[in-house]
Amino acid sequence: MTRTPLMAGNWKMNMDHLEAIHLVQGLHMELSDANFDYSKVEVVVVPPFTDIRSVQTVVEGDGMKIQYGAQDVSTHESGAYTGEVSATMLKKLGCAYVVVGHSERREYHSESDALVGEKARVVLAAGMTPIICCGEALEVRKEGKQVPHVLAQIDGALDGMSADDVKTAVIAYEPIWAIGTGEVATPEDAQEVCGAIRGRIAELYDAETAEATRILYGGSVKSSNVAEIMSQQDVDGALVGGASLKADEFAKIARFAEL
Ligand code: PGA
Repeated sequence: MTRTPLMAGNWKMNMDHLEAIHLVQGLHMELSDANFDYSKVEVVVVPPFTDIRSVQTVVEGDGMKIQYGAQDVSTHESGAYTGEVSATMLKKLGCAYVVVGHSERREYHSESDALVGEKARVVLAAGMTPIICCGEALEVRKEGKQVPHVLAQIDGALDGMSADDVKTAVIAYEPIWAIGTGEVATPEDAQEVCGAIRGRIAELYDAETAEATRILYGGSVKSSNVAEIMSQQDVDGALVGGASLKADEFAKIARFAEL
């Protein structure tokens, strides 16, 4: 596979800046041996905004290969937008990735597919990589409509994006019923939707673009189930919530190939 696997830890609203330093140092220690090669698996932490400067300081100060990003971004460049954080500000802090359209943002902040797409484009324009989240609720899954539901989200989010942008971007399929519930989708469930997303990218762009785009699975990923999920052909990594808050557990996830 030419796509480099990506393990991203979405800390959500957990960890103050001191805890963040501790967690990143712990993760670095866990991954500091000859068996682990950062060029074969990208490791990314996605802390709250208030931690990013501290994470930058330890990562740069100690020359760590862990990358980091943000959980959301404003669509505006600057100005009178109280409470918002711009892509330029995140880029300046060394962020490589920005999660956009997480289901918690869609649900609690009414983010639409169009807004998610706009955020993704703002992230790309600032020279960072968006992790574009999609995924269906339990009712949609029960009706068996997960594939059309997710593909509609993808169509909305990729609207107006060039093939090069899509190749740079990362898609994260996260069935909402599997997030934080301990209810993990089966590897086949993950493959069904991740494969359909890749098929849609091939339709919207071309086969080369589809082959290059990384698609992650998210939802109750832990060290005990990551290897099976990663064995699916269209799953290129994981967006991990709860299990990314413990250095040893997240390190094991990053070492899925050794499990
Ligand atoms: P979880 O969260 O791993 O705790 O289920 C995943 C996510 O929301 O990104």
